[in-house]
Formats: sequence, C-alpha cells, structure tokens
Amino acid sequence: MSNVEAAGSAEEIRARVEKLLVGMTLAEKAGQLTQYFYFGGNESAGEWANEQSREVEVALGRGGAGSLLFVRDPAEVNRLQRLTMEGNRHGIPALFGFDVIHGFRTIFPVPLAMAASWDPPMVEQAQGVAAREARAVGIHWTFAPMVDIARDPRWGRIVEGAGEDPYLGAAMAAAQVRGFQGDHLGAPERVVAGPKHFAGYGAALGGRDYDEVNLSASEFWNVYLPPFRAAVEAGAGNVMTAYMDLDGVPATGNRWLLSEVLRGALGFDGFLVSDANAVRNLATHGFAADLTDAAVRAVKVGLDLEMAISDPAYAHLEEAVAAGSVDVEAVDACVRRVLEVKLRLGLFDQPYVDEERARSVLADPSHREVARVAARRSAVLLRNEGGLLPLSPARLGSVAVLGHLATSKRDILGPWSFEFDLEETVSILEAVQARLGPGTEVTHAPGVRPTERLFSSIFDSFPGNVPVVEEGFDDDAELARAVELAKGSDVAVVVLGEWQNLVGEQASRSSIDLPGRQLELLQAVVATGTPVVLLVMNGRPLDLRWAAEHVPAILDVWYPGTQGGTAVADLLFGDVAPGGKLPFSWPRSVGQVPVVYSHTTSHEPERQAERYWDEPSTPLYPFGFGLSYTSFAYSELVLDRSEVPAGESLVVSVKVTNTGERPGDEVVQLYVHQRHGSASRPVRELKGFRRLHLAAGEPRTVRFTLGPAELRYWSSAARDYVLDASTFDVWVGGDSTASLGTSFSTTGRGGAGSPTPG
Ligand code: NOJ
Repeated sequence: MSNVEAAGSAEEIRARVEKLLVGMTLAEKAGQLTQYFYFGGNESAGEWANEQSREVEVALGRGGAGSLLFVRDPAEVNRLQRLTMEGNRHGIPALFGFDVIHGFRTIFPVPLAMAASWDPPMVEQAQGVAAREARAVGIHWTFAPMVDIARDPRWGRIVEGAGEDPYLGAAMAAAQVRGFQGDHLGAPERVVAGPKHFAGYGAALGGRDYDEVNLSASEFWNVYLPPFRAAVEAGAGNVMTAYMDLDGVPATGNRWLLSEVLRGALGFDGFLVSDANAVRNLATHGFAADLTDAAVRAVKVGLDLEMAISDPAYAHLEEAVAAGSVDVEAVDACVRRVLEVKLRLGLFDQPYVDEERARSVLADPSHREVARVAARRSAVLLRNEGGLLPLSPARLGSVAVLGHLATSKRDILGPWSFEFDLEETVSILEAVQARLGPGTEVTHAPGVRPTERLFSSIFDSFPGNVPVVEEGFDDDAELARAVELAKGSDVAVVVLGEWQNLVGEQASRSSIDLPGRQLELLQAVVATGTPVVLLVMNGRPLDLRWAAEHVPAILDVWYPGTQGGTAVADLLFGDVAPGGKLPFSWPRSVGQVPVVYSHTTSHEPERQAERYWDEPSTPLYPFGFGLSYTSFAYSELVLDRSEVPAGESLVVSVKVTNTGERPGDEVVQLYVHQRHGSASRPVRELKGFRRLHLAAGEPRTVRFTLGPAELRYWSSAARDYVLDASTFDVWVGGDSTASLGTSFSTTGRGGAGSPTPG
C-alpha cells in the first residue's frame, strides 16, 4: 500500500484536519505552529543545550510543540515522538525536520559543486539518496534546496546554492525537489523539500550574511524568483522565509512577498516555515513592536510554523487572539496546513521509525557509489597546459601530495555536514596512494597551517568543525619541507583552498584570497620546476590570478564529499574526464564583485572589458567554462523557423563533435539576447543546456526548444511579464562566450503568462 493510500484522499485528509481542529484549544494550536531546535540532553552537548532540551521536552510533554529540528538519531526520534504523542490529547505526531543539504550519512559534493555538474538527473539521484538516509532515521523534511541566487562570493552561503544564473538555478532547484520528495509528497523513502530562503537573501549588501537586501523589481522577478518558481512547480511541500529586510520590510513578515508573490503569483499551497528565530526577529528588526506583535504579523501573512531556538513568539498567540489583534481563523489557516502535511506523510498511522532498518539503509554501499559519481561529475578543469592531466600512473616514480586539505577528512565534506562517517570518508592523499600502489612513492606535507577565523560561528561547537592547529607547528619549516618534497618528485599535486568552516552561514569574507600562506606555498612549489597540478577545494571562487598564469593544471574539485578522494583520483589518472562547468563567472579579484555574464549592453559596450583602468573587467573564467581531456567542435547551428509568432516556439539544433582522442563530456549551452523591447535585456542569458557523453570522434545533434517560457521576461516598464516583438541573437557553445550564432525574430505581443502583482 502506498503512502498516498495510507494517508487517504485529499478529501479525507481535509475532513480529518477539520475534525482535529474543532477539538483543539488555542494553546494546542499555537503548539502545532511551533518548531524547536533540539540538540539533545547529554554530557557533550553543553549546559545551554541541556537546559534548552529540557525546556523542549517539557513543551512536548504538554502538547506545546508541533515540530523539532536537529534530531538525527532514530532512537531519539522515537523517544521524542512518544513524548509528543502522549503529550497531546489528539495524538498528533511531531514533524522532524533537518538540514539535509548535500547528504545525510553519505555526503555528496556541496550544492554549488553539484550545480557545476550541469547534470540535473545526477543531482536528483543524489538528493534521492540523501532523502532515503534521512527518512530512514525518522527525518520527515529537509530545509533544502537552498535556491538563493548568489552573485557575490564574499557571501559565505554561495556554497549552498547553484550560483549566479536563474536558468541553471531553476533546473537545479527542480531536480533537488524531485530528488528529495519523489513524485508526490508522502512518497516512501522521501522527505518534504523546503526551498529557501524566500526571497532575495543572496543579494545581501556587501556579501555580509544577514544584511539587508535592496533589489530592483526586474532583478527580483527575472533573477531571484525563477528558482523558487521552479521548486514550487516541482511540487515542493514547504518554503522557508529569509532573515533579512527586503526593500525595508523583513521577508518573514512581508505581506507582498509571502501572500501576493509566493501564494499568489507562484501558486504555492504548502506550509511556510520561518528561518530560525526569524519571527522573533520581526521585533529585533524594528518592524514589530514586541513578540506578540511579531506573532500577529507573521500569522497574518500566513507564516505557518515558527522555527525557534527558544522563547517562541507564537507562545503569545493566545493572548493576541484574546485581545482581538488577530482572528482565530488566521491561526486556523496555519494549523490546517501543518496538520495536512503530517497526514499526507502518513505520520498519524506510522509515527515511529524502525531503528534496525535505519542501520541497514545507512550502511547501503550503493549510496557511496552515487557519491563517487557525483564528485566526478562536479569537478571543473580550469587549466591544462601541455596536457599535463591526466597523469599516467605507469610513468610516475614519485608524487608529492601537498596541503593540509589533502588529508583533512572533515574539510573534504564541506559545510552543512553532521552525520558523516570519517572512517568511510576517503581523503585525496589516501586515494592517490591506493590508486598508485607501492611502485610509486607518494609523500605528503601540509605546508601551511589551517587558517583561523577572526570571529566564531554557530557551527563551532559541532565536533571537528574547527580545524586543529598542531601544537608546535613551525610554519617556515613546514613550508620548506613541502617544497623539498616537491623538488624530489616527478609531479606535485597541491591541494589548496578554504577550510570548510571558512565558507557557509556566518562565513562571509571581505576578500577572496587563498587564506593564510597558501599562495606563498604554491609559488615556492612552482619555482622548483616540478610540474604542478593545483586542486582547488572551495565553496566560492578564490583569487587564482597567479595560478592561472603559472600553474599548468588547475582542477576545481570543490568540497567533493565522502567519496571525494576516490573521485579526484579517478579524474587525476584519467579513468574519467572532468566535464563540469562553472556555475558563476569567476572574478579576478574581489574588486570586481559582483561580476556576472548577463549584464546589459549599456553605454560603450565595445569597452566592456575596460570598465576599470587597473584590471580587465572581464572575469578570470567565464560562466559556463570548463575544459575536458578531449576537445569539442560546434557546427551546423540551424533554426526550424526564423520568425516566431508570440506564444509559439522554435527549435534550435546544433552538431557537437568530440574532436579529440579520448571520450569526454561536454555541456552544450544555449544563450539568447533580445536586441530591443520594452526594457534592455542582458547581453546573454542561458536558456538551455545539455550534458553529453561523446566517444572519441563521435558527433551528436542536439535540439533545444525556445518557447514563451524562455523568451518572456518581467518588464519594469509594463510591471508584468511580456513577450516583445523583437530580434533575438542565439548562440550555442561550451561556455557563455560561445561564438557560433544566428538570429530570429518574434512577432506580435502577449501570451506571456499569468499576470503578476508588481
Ligand atoms: C538558519 C539557516 O539560515 C537556515 O538555512 C537553516 O535551515 C536553519 N538555520 C536551521 O538550521
């Protein structure tokens, strides 16, 4: 019997919700609308967590909490669920949520890396595995995918999303929702997906996490909204609101944003959760007068569930209703949505989890294989002078694997990893050693110490999250030792980047330099004359200007996850060729930030590369860029029609040929530019892509359809979506500078889609 049958039809669910609702007191309703963090009461948790856990258990025991987050152990889930079920007269189970961002026990590459795969089916499969593991331990819902467009790499949370582009972002958003949720909400072995943070969070001023956002309407609708629309259209059951002020109104209490845009224009009918403490924060922001006012304003805009660390604002709902500040109907509307999801997940009938089964699901070796493939497909080859890569094991007498990140198992997993198993995590050094065997000497030195943060982060208390600097680490001597090893080796593989705690939430930076003395190490190793392969481990673009000129081979491996080491060895030694492409324009330096490929033409476009006098204003590597161990040629770009009436489509076809001697993957990308219209349009916008695997010499014809969904845009002149009669340029190629192009025109107007409030 499927879960849908277990849960009942939509009508039956509605009837059960209404029946429950009539019997509930206001306090019980407020409890259903409250979600608490639960870190567990144990010795290692610390005094604050212990105290908070006791409070949460008291709340559960009297029906004062409808949902918990951060519980990850199946036995704990069962114990707390029992408390919940017994603590309320109605037997309403708790909903367990957690940040399953890029894996649960099996850690996949960070989301930015997975976006670099340009491979939605692979991403869907990976998040399907993540869902399976999470659901097995009793987690019902993930606070993912993060679909915030990020155009400023100073913002640490760029690592959690799909980069700068709305089209790629939308494809990744939909793939992840499908992976997490399956084909319907309540599907077995899946979890509810909660795209976040609605909306605009990635545009934080100066890249400073949580700072305010001031977006133009055109950027909001055309750039920041499409991934949310795609996630909602893919069926996401939940959406999380953002922390910051959007145009002066906090996102979590923003009626226009939540009612008109999310529920209205996007048609979202699932349940909404606030970010942690974001309802309380309506008062902190200087928006709500106090916690009661915060609760009232949040409920009035349909914010169903308050995520609270402690002292929730929704605890004041009873007094607010009594005072007439909010109608009970508004509260009921929120409770309905929360009860409905619990029913649709079948939790009333099956609130507990099978602990034995959880163990076997987490141990499933096929999950690790999916992680290995994901890591291989995410890597981006940025440079390969003289075909240094792939390395030939037979010809290598000795390899120096340098850098602390080559051995750090915690760092290779990236931020937002909690339930990982370090035993089954493979470091780059281990994988290189295993691949080469005893015939090749593999040496290692860290070279530099991990960089310490100036300020702490909320994640510091999780085990292993803060790298330990070895006692007595002698910086100069260690650097010299690494250089010596490079000198005596046939090749040096240098692993540099950012320690995982330097990127993520509360991990914004004012620079994008390689932290610490890493550049110095790299320069000294290159100066030995030994050929150098630079592996970049990162969750944001870093300043690689020097490397881009002096290091022959650069492979961006990101934070590749549990099987990251193995996948990197697969790539280094040519078992597979890298085929990932950049999901952002890679800036030369922090001074260029933000730099995006989809800017408008503006004044003197012929001098676009010269907007600064001290540095080219083009990026170091363009959006969509990535090399392979083979090469590809594009030809025969053909349109099936040159005039397209408004509302109709055309088909673009192109021939792609693998012109090299090895098999490889290419991501075929299609860009358009609308020459004139009711607003200026970007010089290029991605409107189609396909990742192909081609054997040596193999040609393939690829077809793309361009229709109203691709040709419409939100015009600030019309304050609506429009389809202009215009001429469009179209290019197809392997990155955003593709030169093979043609053009077509559109005639007539209208048919742009649903009207939207401006
Ligand atoms: C705050 C973060 O902004 C959000 O993304 C996350 O889901 C919650 N904390 C819960 O961990």
